[in-house]
Amino acid sequence: MAFESNLDRLLVLDLVRVTEAAAVSAAKLIGKGDEKAADAAAVDAMRSALNNMDIQGRVVIGEGERDEAPMLFIGEEVGTGKGPRVDIALDPLEGTTIAAKAMQNSLAVIAISEEGHLLNAPDVYMNKVAVGPGYADGVVDLDRTPTENIKSVAEARGCSVNDILVCVLDRPRHAAIIEEIRGAGARVKLIGDGDVAGIIDTTNPDTSVDIYMGSGGAPEGVLAAAALRCIGGQMQGRLIFRNDDERGRAHKWGITDLNRKYSTMDMASGDVIFAATGVTDGYLLRGVHQTLDGKGYSTESVVMRSRTGTVRWVRAEHNRKNSG
Ligand code: FBP
Repeated sequence: MAFESNLDRLLVLDLVRVTEAAAVSAAKLIGKGDEKAADAAAVDAMRSALNNMDIQGRVVIGEGERDEAPMLFIGEEVGTGKGPRVDIALDPLEGTTIAAKAMQNSLAVIAISEEGHLLNAPDVYMNKVAVGPGYADGVVDLDRTPTENIKSVAEARGCSVNDILVCVLDRPRHAAIIEEIRGAGARVKLIGDGDVAGIIDTTNPDTSVDIYMGSGGAPEGVLAAAALRCIGGQMQGRLIFRNDDERGRAHKWGITDLNRKYSTMDMASGDVIFAATGVTDGYLLRGVHQTLDGKGYSTESVVMRSRTGTVRWVRAEHNRKNSG
């Protein structure tokens, strides 16, 4: 059942408060070289803000399993217990290393959907391919080679393969893909971390990114799929199980087809709301900054909703007294 329309509005604003709270808390630790402390600050703030929301929320993508994550673990119930039942995917600090090193593109991210509509993905790697809006379904496919996907997008765009820019996480495991992309004549934008932002970049012409390719976290894959459901675009993901322990996790999550190819809809269906606040500056969002008078912090967030396709950009100034 879709959310009541007046509740939607409240949820949309409340969700921005949740990511703002996480971003402001994490921002105090930007550049300190302490990933764990920055993450812990974001988790703590996001959890408190979530617990003020009038929802019966259940974390399906969170900080880890109950025995390894004290807060916002998978299965944790959050919210006041009043209001709609929702499933939640969250990453209070997406790009912990980026934040610790004061580099670009770390975000506080959350997505909610109706109960049972977000993929319960285990914390394993996922192979991903994504493009922005405006293409026919199937323009890219995980079962095709990088070269085939690049040619398909170039043809759909009516441009040369040389114009195509592919975003890839800069990892040794991607050496072969990077070589193939360049060998095909296309260009590669390497990012150090943060593939939620990398995938959303395919929807933003300012970035010039046409395609996202490569493997990254499965939880991040679900969050990116939730964003694409709202803003447009398509993505496919396939979980990667490297050993028996990871295959065991799949079993625990009820995944029987280990080779399944998930579409955007398979990962995030129903009425989805996605929100993100910039922690450090990036293409998508400006990060947290001190206000000119030094009395508070400015934030920039985006909140979007699949049912209406509305994308709202929210700039806010927070009084230091009220933000911890
Ligand atoms: P964290 O915020 O957990 O540090 O994740 C950052 C990230 O770059 C993700 O965006 C990406 O999906 C994943 O790590 C890739 O994993 P790895 O660093 O192992 O290649």
